[in-house]
Amino acid sequence: MIDFRSDTVTRPTPEMLKAMFAAQVGDDVFGDDPTVNALEAKVSTMFGMEAALFCASGTMANQIAIKAHTQPGDEVICHKLSHVYYYEGGGIAMNSGASVCLLEGEQGRITAADVAAHINPPADPHRPLTRLVSVENTMNKGGGSIYNFSELIAIEKVCRENGLKFHLDGARLFNALVETSDTPVDYGKIFDSISICISKGLGAPVGSVLIGNKEFIRKARRIRKVFGGGMRQAGYLAAACIYAIDNHVERLREDHLRAKQLETTLNSLSYIEAVIPVQTNLVFFSLKPSMPVDKFLSKLRENDIYAMALAPQQVRFVTHLDITDEMMEKVTGVLRSMQ
Ligand SMILES: Cc1ncc(COP(=O)(O)O)c(C=O)c1O
Repeated sequence: MIDFRSDTVTRPTPEMLKAMFAAQVGDDVFGDDPTVNALEAKVSTMFGMEAALFCASGTMANQIAIKAHTQPGDEVICHKLSHVYYYEGGGIAMNSGASVCLLEGEQGRITAADVAAHINPPADPHRPLTRLVSVENTMNKGGGSIYNFSELIAIEKVCRENGLKFHLDGARLFNALVETSDTPVDYGKIFDSISICISKGLGAPVGSVLIGNKEFIRKARRIRKVFGGGMRQAGYLAAACIYAIDNHVERLREDHLRAKQLETTLNSLSYIEAVIPVQTNLVFFSLKPSMPVDKFLSKLRENDIYAMALAPQQVRFVTHLDITDEMMEKVTGVLRSMQ
């Protein structure tokens, strides 16, 4: 099976499994799991932030952050295609009772000017109180696009001038970091909270980390408990995350190269309408009407190749740790044969 549906489909490598079996564990809800504690310390130090919290998923980390930063009735500014709004089941409303202000923006990225233009006047009781700005980097539905760091600094300035909190959904932040000269510490300096997924391109089976200052993480820990996210001997999972951070960051560039290869192939095919320019490991493309999406996906399935449709006539391929050169060759051949 060649699985391009997501970078979440990877299985632990033998070395990662070894690290998991060797983990020292304890009850993390009591704060006793040394491996979870080591992961949290490692990630907070890496970003130059005070504290971190191990979470079951990226969705949980984002939703905890939003709840910790807001009160019911507050407003969150984000892109209309951002994961926190579009793909988290209405969690902003359900978990935090917060309102959203949805912005447009090229390849899923918002701008400082647009954020500034959408902050509600705090003295006007008719309008929800703008409290939080959330950005996503890389931006999933923007085709894995990367923010220019200077734009993030400009958004932070708007946040500080207006007393707003600034959250980063960094599910795939390491994909952005290996393609730029920006560092985790640069990010730690401008955000109030950052969520990082270790279970995507980095290849851990489960796990995300939420980072922030001590007071924020204290609040987040309480919310994680309420959400049912206290995981006891979670050190077995944290060990996989530590292994992934130590061994699988630099190799993300291989995923990006393969995604670029797919982009080149797709751009040469007669039935492809357009490919969103590839910057990392996500390849979004649309099909001409002559190639209905169901026909395209079933033809792939006949060849044991799996991908996802994310909009009418739009398909996403995601490259990851379990994709090999042989798989790439096979996929290229199958895509060409459909012309
Ligand atoms: C940008 C982004 N944020 C958050 C998530 C949520 O992660 P999880 O599936 O672990 O809840 C995803 C998952 O695909 C994502 O792409």
